[in-house]
Parts: sequence; structure tokens; C-alpha cells
Amino acid sequence: MNNFDFYNPTRIVFGAETVGRLADLVPADARVLLLYGGESARKNGTLDEVRAALGTREVQEFGGIEPNPSYETLMRAVEQIRDQQLDYLLAVGGGSVIDGTKFVAAAVGYEGDPWQILETRGRHIKQALPFGSVLTLPATGSEMNAASVVTRRATKAKLAFSSPHVYPQFSILDPTKTYTLPLRQVANGVVDAFTHIMEQYLTYPADGMVQDRFAEGLLQTLVEIGPKVLAKPDDYDLRANLMWTATLALNGLIGAGVPQDWSTHMIGHELTALYGIDHARTLAIVLPANLEIRREAKRGKLLQYAERVWHITEGTEDQRIDAAIAKTRSFFESLDIPTRLPGYNVGADAIDDIVKQLERHAMTQLGEHRDVTLEVSRRILEASV
Ligand code: NZQ
Ligand code: ZN
Repeated sequence: MNNFDFYNPTRIVFGAETVGRLADLVPADARVLLLYGGESARKNGTLDEVRAALGTREVQEFGGIEPNPSYETLMRAVEQIRDQQLDYLLAVGGGSVIDGTKFVAAAVGYEGDPWQILETRGRHIKQALPFGSVLTLPATGSEMNAASVVTRRATKAKLAFSSPHVYPQFSILDPTKTYTLPLRQVANGVVDAFTHIMEQYLTYPADGMVQDRFAEGLLQTLVEIGPKVLAKPDDYDLRANLMWTATLALNGLIGAGVPQDWSTHMIGHELTALYGIDHARTLAIVLPANLEIRREAKRGKLLQYAERVWHITEGTEDQRIDAAIAKTRSFFESLDIPTRLPGYNVGADAIDDIVKQLERHAMTQLGEHRDVTLEVSRRILEASV
């Protein structure tokens, strides 16, 4: 196992009827900016509940944070905070709203051009406004991690940053708040969480015994509940299990002390930036092809994955690996998520543009061995057509 330093300061308040806890979680004298996305949080009554819990505190709103939040929109929130001297942020929404809030929290007091936060991946952030979140979409893990992904629309650059200064102080996870999600977003959440686990698990054996077992347990939970959570949208226990699994998938726990990949995400980000494909769907396109192309370097873990997650024990090593990759693909497809580029009207002729974007963003040495060069990314994309 590798050395690690694991610190996660986010308080999780989990369960039905927990939005009222904002009354004691947000400082009494806070001047709050409430950040949200489109209209879902208003329509389903979550915003009203949040406002009621905040009582007599000074509360202003900033709505309109779009999926794959844009730098352009978020900078307007930064201006509002500076103008109105607000000092506490509350994100109400999914990964995009929480990620956007992290950027805003760091940008308000940033010395220099805030876009540098993305260009330097967050390395120079020295402080951020405190914030909490009310999660409405289980998927990204943003509610309990220090990462954020922001898109600059003008240049089609979708870049990630992280900093210990942008952990939420708390996140409220009320599974009933996810009942109004379109099924497409629920399916996206299952695939995003699944891929987060795979990025930290499916590398090479590193003797992280408990990390492996945790990861396999989370993967098996998603395989078990994925189809059910779509079939029974208002089943509390299924929603609760999905929500907690997605949080644990990317809160640092399973990734501590083990190698990590993340090449599927980096290639996926370019697909969203260029073609507007939902984040999780880009992962469903890239992951099976990535496992296929890098099967030699990942052989040990692919065999372990085949046996422990999919119970594949028959056949030669290569047959077991083939079967595990096929199971992964058909699991995504069973959630109504196409796993090849043409399923999104993108053809092989797009590959040059995608590879150019990777080069522009210095994504030239990805993966746990840093050996996913542009040439390897190209082969992965060719295998995803
Ligand atoms: O904008 P509104 O009207 O709220 O609608 C949203 C949005 O259209 C809707 N929605 C959310 N909660 C709802 C709801 N609709 C009805 N009822 C509810 N309860 O869902 C749509 C998608 O929301 P979004 O926040 O974009 O989805 P998600 O949570 O999947 O977040 C995706 C973003 O997170 C980033 C992605 O790159 C992408 O930008 N990621 C962040 C990560 C992190 N911080 O660690 C890791 C991930 O790998 C990912 O990259
Ligand atoms: Zn993701």
C-alpha cells in the first residue's frame, strides 16, 4: 500500500426531513448566497424549504448555474458576492451547482485572474469562502470532496481543479429530494459513481486490501440497485443506498493509498466540451474501450474485477477479461445509456478534433502509469466507435 494523508472535514447529515438542520449548520450571522441551477429546486419546493430553515438570516439568490457550470456564469456570482459583501455560500443542487459553488468560493478572494484557478488545477488557492450544500442528485461525490470541474464556454475548455480549501463544511443528503429527478439523470448518476470507483480500483494490484474490498462492495451495490432504482423511482431505501454509494465512491476513502487512473474522465471531459454529451454518458463511451485497449497493463485487476464483482470464474484469462468488459458495457446499456460514440451522433471523423483538445489541455500522459499518450487516447477513441 502507498503512503497517504487522508483528511475529509465534510460533515454529512443524511436522511429524510433533514433540510431543517440548516438552521443550526449555517452560522447565525451569515450573509448567505444561495446558489442553484435551473428551475428544479424551485419547482419541487426545495428552495422554499431551504429559505424557511435559514430563518431571518440575510439571504440572496443566484440561480441559473447550468449543467457543466460555466466560468462565464460563475463570475457573475463572484461579482454579486463582492458587491453585496456576502460571506457564506449554500449550494442547492447536483454536482454542477456544488462544483460551481466551489469555484466561486475560491475565486472571490483570489489574487489574479480567476481562470488561473483552472489552469493551475487549484494549486495556488490560499483561501475560500465557507460553504455547505444540499444535494439533489447523487452522482459526482462533489458533496464530500475537494474537486470541481468548470467549463469556459468561449474556448470549449472543461478543466478540473482541487484544493483542500473547497471541501464543503457540511452536506445535507436527503434521498427524498431526488424523487423528482428525470430517470436519465438517475441512470447518469449510477454510471458516474461506477466509473469513479473504477478509476481508483481498476489499475494494478497495490495490496490495498480494504480499499479493494470497499470498491468491490460499492460496485456490486450499484450493479444490484441500478436497474431497481430506475424501476421504482420513489423507493426510499433504493434512493438512500444510491446516494450514499455515490458519495463514498469519490470522497477520498477508496482512493487513499492506491494508484488512480482518471484517463476515462479526462477524455470524457473533452467529449462534453465539444459535443455537449452528459458527463456520465461520456464515461460510458470511454470506459469499456479504455479497459479493452489497456488490458495488458490492467490484467491483474481486470481478472480480480471479473471474479469478485461479476463472479466470472470459467474460461481462460483472456476470456474472463472479455466477459468482464462485456458485462460492464451491458450494465451501462441496461440503464439505457449508449456506450459508443455513434449512439450520440458522433463518428470516427471527430477523433482528430478530440485528440487535439487533449493536446491543448496537456492531457498527454494520463493514467496510473502516465502512459496514456495522445496515441493511446486515439486508440481508445477508435475502439469506442
Ligand atoms: O438545473 P436544474 O433545474 O436544477 O436541473 C438539473 C440539471 O438539469 C437536474 N436536477 C438536479 N437535481 C434535480 C434535478 N432535476 C429534478 N429534480 C432534482 N432533484 O439534473 C440536471 C443535471 O444536473 P448536474 O448537477 O449537471 O448533474 P451532475 O450531478 O451529474 O453533475 C455533473 C457535473 O459534475 C462534474 C461533471 O463534470 C459535470 O460538470 N463532476 C464533478 C466531480 C467532482 N466535483 O468531484 C466529479 C465528476 O467526475 C464530475 O466530473
Ligand atoms: Zn465523474
